[in-house]
Order: sequence, then structure tokens, then C-alpha cells
Amino acid sequence: MKEINIGMLGCGTVGTGVAKILIKNKDLISSRVGASLNLKSVADIDIASDRGLQFDKGVMTTDSDKVVTDPDIDIILEMIGGETIAKDLILKAIENGKHVVTANKALLANQGNEIFKAAEIKGVDLAFEASVGGCMPIIKSLRESLVGNKIKSMIGILNGTCNYILSKITDDGSTFKEALAEAQAKGYAEADSTLDVEGYDAAHKLALLISLAYGMEIDLSNIYVEGISSITPMDIEYAGQFGYRIKLLAISKNRGDTVEARVHPTMIPFDNILSNVNGSLNAINVSADAVGDILLYGRGAGMMPTASSVVSDTVDIARNILSGSARRIPLLSFQMENIRKIPVMPVDEIFTHYYIRFSALDKPGVLSRISGILGKNEISIKSVQQKGRKTNGSVPLVMLTHRAKEADVSKALSEINSLDVASDRPVLIRIEDENGQD
Ligand code: HSE
Repeated sequence: MKEINIGMLGCGTVGTGVAKILIKNKDLISSRVGASLNLKSVADIDIASDRGLQFDKGVMTTDSDKVVTDPDIDIILEMIGGETIAKDLILKAIENGKHVVTANKALLANQGNEIFKAAEIKGVDLAFEASVGGCMPIIKSLRESLVGNKIKSMIGILNGTCNYILSKITDDGSTFKEALAEAQAKGYAEADSTLDVEGYDAAHKLALLISLAYGMEIDLSNIYVEGISSITPMDIEYAGQFGYRIKLLAISKNRGDTVEARVHPTMIPFDNILSNVNGSLNAINVSADAVGDILLYGRGAGMMPTASSVVSDTVDIARNILSGSARRIPLLSFQMENIRKIPVMPVDEIFTHYYIRFSALDKPGVLSRISGILGKNEISIKSVQQKGRKTNGSVPLVMLTHRAKEADVSKALSEINSLDVASDRPVLIRIEDENGQD
């Protein structure tokens, strides 16, 4: 049987999972592919730790350069993460004619244009399913299954750590700190967990998805990003009273010449299927002109689910090698010459519904002053709730708005913030509610 040799760089959480699948399911995979996928070399700075795996003698090495230049290796799996060594090794592998599989969303979101171009010039495959949504085949769906569709919107829960934290606070009354520590212990969080909690990890993923969906150069810089670190139990409780759950959503909408792309905590109604995606699970709803809506749901983080996607990419590439059809599927879904710069819509220009919580003095005339400013800025109030809970002499005054323009809302909030009756800065959480069109 023909052998396809694989070199892996990095044997941490995901790398170990990949090795487990390639070793334990070797016969199953061979019987599906018609070739033996042979994990020839695994490079890591730590070759001593017990990973619960029996590598053949000589497989583990500390010499990653030797792996990416080994003439017998066909496919390199980059499982190191980070943007320096990983980038150098990927480029070196490409230069040496290797096909590459990576799960490195931060690298691709920040420096992907250069890397994809290098792969294109060299004529090699570069696959990255595991970089978005763990085991969910969203990249394959966009590149292949939905190829005949115009993508209208993609709305997803793409960060397992944030979803885990928000679920734990909402359902179990955990503190933010406790929930984050658990997510870290379970191996969901990035090495630098601010990438998760401040929304950047989800933004990296969204940058890749909009590139695939709309044929745009990868451009992270204009995606609006807000994380979950300032979400309070009080707002989660109010959300529940209004019939919403708070999720960190990655949202993109096709707006013709521009694309709406943003990541922020969002209130979604209980009857929105995404509101029932909890724990470390991810999901993404893609709305497209021919299919209508499709939903992918699954484990977005963790060793084996992420490794499953890496192996799937590896098998795709192995099949391309066997049939002599490298790059049969364009790396970024569109032919490289058709990939354009498409602007992301500034967040000030979006229209959506808002939850706003003011901390205001509980005295006559306060509500009318606040609603007066909102009205003057074209913001129509849908409902108001005030509970007599006094904190520092202030009460929480919560409003939901009808659809309004973000720029108008920002302007109104700064005017309200300067009133002598407002104490803390108002809290603003956007609402995604397809039933509340007005
Ligand atoms: N830190 C990421 C998450 C891992 O929590 O979703 C998967 O990309």
C-alpha cells in the first residue's frame, strides 16, 4: 500500500490528539484512503513527557527544521501555535514543497495573506479546518458544500472558553474567575486567555470565515471586537427576565459592497437555537440564498474534537496527492485572482436592537431626561424596567430599544453619561433578535 508521510510540529494538547487518532485509527483511515498515513516525525521541545502514546523509535525529535526539509515527508501538520516560529516553519515547509495543515487561527488571521500566497505560488495545499470551531466542518462547508450559494449571514458561537464561562455564570452561579479556571483546566483556553475572554480568538475565526464566504482578503483590523470580561451577573439576570441569554457571538452579514463583521456579547431570545448551545460547545448558523439556513453544532475546543479536524484535512490532502490534484479546492474558496479587498462596515453604521442599563438617581424627572436624549437621537424605547435596588444611591434603569443606529446610540449615551443624575457609565449590550425587526 502506498505510504504518505506526515511530519508534525508541536505535540501539545491538539498535537497529541492528532497522533492518537493517526496511530489508533491507522487501519480504519488506510481502508478509507487507500494509502497508509504514516506519522514519520514529531518535533517538540519536550520529547521526554509521557503523552500516553507509543511512538516508534526515532519519531520524536527536537529538530523541527529537519522535519520541514525531510524529502520523504509529504504533509506538515503545524500544531505549535503562536505567530513567530510557527510562521517561519510553515513558510519553510511550503518552500520545500510540503502541503500544510494548521489549526493556527491567530497566525492566519494576522498574516494569512502572505502565507496563502506562498502556498499558491508553490502549488501546495494549505488546510485549516481546525482553526475555526474545533470539530465543526465550517470551512469545508463554505469551501465545498455551499459553493453554489451567496452567503447572506453567518452568526456563531465560536469561542468555547467564553461560552463555557457565560454558561457557568448563568446556570450555576459560578464567578467569572472560577469558570475561566475550569475552562483552562479542561484545555479549552488559549495559552493567553485574554485572546479568548476579550473576543480576539472569535475575531480571528470570523476574519477567516468572511474571507472564505465573500472572497475578501483576510483583514482583521476592521472587525469590531468586544469581549465578555465586563459582563455582570446583574445583566445576565436582567437578560433572563426579558427572555434573552447572553452569548459571545461572531456576527457577519453581507451588506452588498461591504460586510458587517463584529464580535461582542449579544442577547439572543430563548427560542433562538444558539441560546441553547452551552458549555464549551460551538455552533454557527449560516444563512445562504439557495439553502436557507444551516446550523453546525459541536465541540469547538479540546484535544480530540480539534484533532479530528486536523486529521480530516490531512486525509483530504492525502487524497489529493493520490489523485495528483493538489489545490483542487482553492485555499480560500475563491480563485486567488478573484480575492479582493472588501471593506468591513464601521460599527457606528450598524443598526440593531440594544439593551442599555443606566445607573441613575431615583428622583422625579430622571426618566424623562434620559428618554428625552434618546428620542432626540432617533432612538425609540421598546421597554423600560426600574427595580428599587439602590447601589450608592442609584438604581438600575434598564431599557430595550427598537432598531437603532450604533452611532446615534453612542452619541446619546455620552450625553446621558454627562448628566448629573447618572452615576456609572451606562452598560450597553446589543440584541440579535430576528423576531424583533422594528
Ligand atoms: N480557545 C479556543 C476556544 C480554542 O476556547 O474556543 C478553540 O479554538
